[in-house]
Amino acid sequence: MGEKIRLDKCLCMLGLGSRSEVKQLIRGGQVRIDGETVKDPDWKLDAEASRIMVNGTPYEYKTVRTVMMNKPAGVLTAARDKKQRTVLDLLPPMYAAMGCMPAGRLDKDTTGMLILTSDGALSHRLITPGKDVGKTYEALVNGLFTEDDRARFASGMHIEDADGTFDARPAEASVLRENEGKNLVRVRITEGKYHQVKRMFAACGLTVLELKRTKIGCLALDPSLQPGDFRELTEAETALLEQTETGR
Ligand code: URA
Repeated sequence: MGEKIRLDKCLCMLGLGSRSEVKQLIRGGQVRIDGETVKDPDWKLDAEASRIMVNGTPYEYKTVRTVMMNKPAGVLTAARDKKQRTVLDLLPPMYAAMGCMPAGRLDKDTTGMLILTSDGALSHRLITPGKDVGKTYEALVNGLFTEDDRARFASGMHIEDADGTFDARPAEASVLRENEGKNLVRVRITEGKYHQVKRMFAACGLTVLELKRTKIGCLALDPSLQPGDFRELTEAETALLEQTETGR
């Protein structure tokens, strides 16, 4: 049995409106719990175990939600911003109400896999460098990525540029394709310093024209997700995020 919460709070957490709006829904007889109409906003329920219907639509209450998004370009990885669209603006309000936050950051122009979760421990595991969770990217660069560059990535690079100084941990990289003098390079890093991938290529004299994250740990971006699309992870996929990578 889960913890019991008030019906009005539960509906707020599901993103169905403000406290006064959901009270109106409840008092108006629009809410059924386990098949019975409940008109008392203070009524307490085990929300995870109950069948919740509002105006005939079923809602599933889960205290932990983890979402995979294919982040589009032009959107900030942040909870809220006064001026610009954020990744949380792409999700129904329920997710913010449930405490979902991006686990890690992609630049505004970077696309691809982003995990948003209300699970603090999972988020911590994904973003803490010592946990060694790989982040795999595909970078289109404006030139040729040489064997020397690959060796520099592999041995761990010292980065010193206008954004500061850091020693990058060793990173695997390989060229996927060459087209009109540009290389598409797959690179896997295990940390997330500010603009890290772009700065590592810049240290080799290359500019990143496009950057997409394709994998976090053992979990790859679902290819059916179009930019801006998202879906909740299955339990098996969440377990993959918690699994240590072997035989990459
Ligand atoms: N490295 C970058 O330079 N940008 C990102 O968005 C992610 C990794």
